[in-house]
Amino acid sequence: KRKMILDLDTGIDDAMAIAYAVGAPDVDLIGIISSYGNVLVDQAAKNSLQILALLGATDVPVYVGEPHSSTTEHFDVMPISAQIHGKNGIGEVDLPEPTRQPEKQSGVDFLIDAVHQYGSDLTLVPTGPLTNLAAAIEKAPDIASTIGNVTIMGGALTVPGNVSHFAEANINQDAEAANTVFTSDIKLTMVGLDVTLRTLLTTKETGQWRDLKTTAGERFADIVDYYIDAYKVTSPHLHGCALHDPLAVGVALDPSFVRTLDLNMFVQASGEDYGRTIGDPARLTEANPNVTVALTVDTDRYLDTFMTYLTDLFKQ
Ligand code: BDR
Ligand code: CA
Repeated sequence: KRKMILDLDTGIDDAMAIAYAVGAPDVDLIGIISSYGNVLVDQAAKNSLQILALLGATDVPVYVGEPHSSTTEHFDVMPISAQIHGKNGIGEVDLPEPTRQPEKQSGVDFLIDAVHQYGSDLTLVPTGPLTNLAAAIEKAPDIASTIGNVTIMGGALTVPGNVSHFAEANINQDAEAANTVFTSDIKLTMVGLDVTLRTLLTTKETGQWRDLKTTAGERFADIVDYYIDAYKVTSPHLHGCALHDPLAVGVALDPSFVRTLDLNMFVQASGEDYGRTIGDPARLTEANPNVTVALTVDTDRYLDTFMTYLTDLFKQ
């Protein structure tokens, strides 16, 4: 089984990423690190613990990551995030208080230790800001060349951003950290808006979960229906909600879901295109580009897999 760590700002699509990883037959989820973004970092940790408990996966430890970018002193949730994910990040659904606490070790130290222990056998999927990963690289630079697979949800190459014309939300939270990651030795796979906006879920699918008449099926339907309703207001042209974060987990496990372009990239960390993920003109002809960018996706096959994993999990 593949050792996997998720690094999440646990909102609703992050919660679906947890379900995908727990439901995938070939994953050993060794920990979840929390990040800030859709919610504050402590709320993200709490949400991850509650979602794990709902899925019967209380053996997975949760570690608290950095509370804000290293260039700011403070982080506030944006009103649009609360609108899309609910104030509590999980669609205003009340789940039982977690019975397990977050671990004492910091998320950054847990990540460094895990790379030292598992090296190329480790898959990391960050679906929030890249602050924790950048901090880990700065503290232990050797991990960049040893970590096996890093597949992020973030960025946009062929479509506009969703926060500004250039910036996708996760990159926009901490473009400096993203640039550290994008220009490091890490072999990075970028699952950005290019593909996640083509991978949509509707109430037809959440209705199938509700029909299972299990607690997990019903609560997940409640949570994701909130997200689908929010998308009707914020993105009425889409006809569904974007499966941003669970698509990144899917691509980490099966890269054949997407067609890709290999490119040396950087992240613009100042000016009006702050947060832009773009090819580095100075490194276009270098051999072995370090970023693999997903450009198109086999939506039908991905959605089939997504529904199989989650529905089987919610049945239990
Ligand atoms: C990303 O931003 C967050 O709000 C979502 O959870 C996803 O990771 C989409 O831009
Ligand atoms: Ca996220």
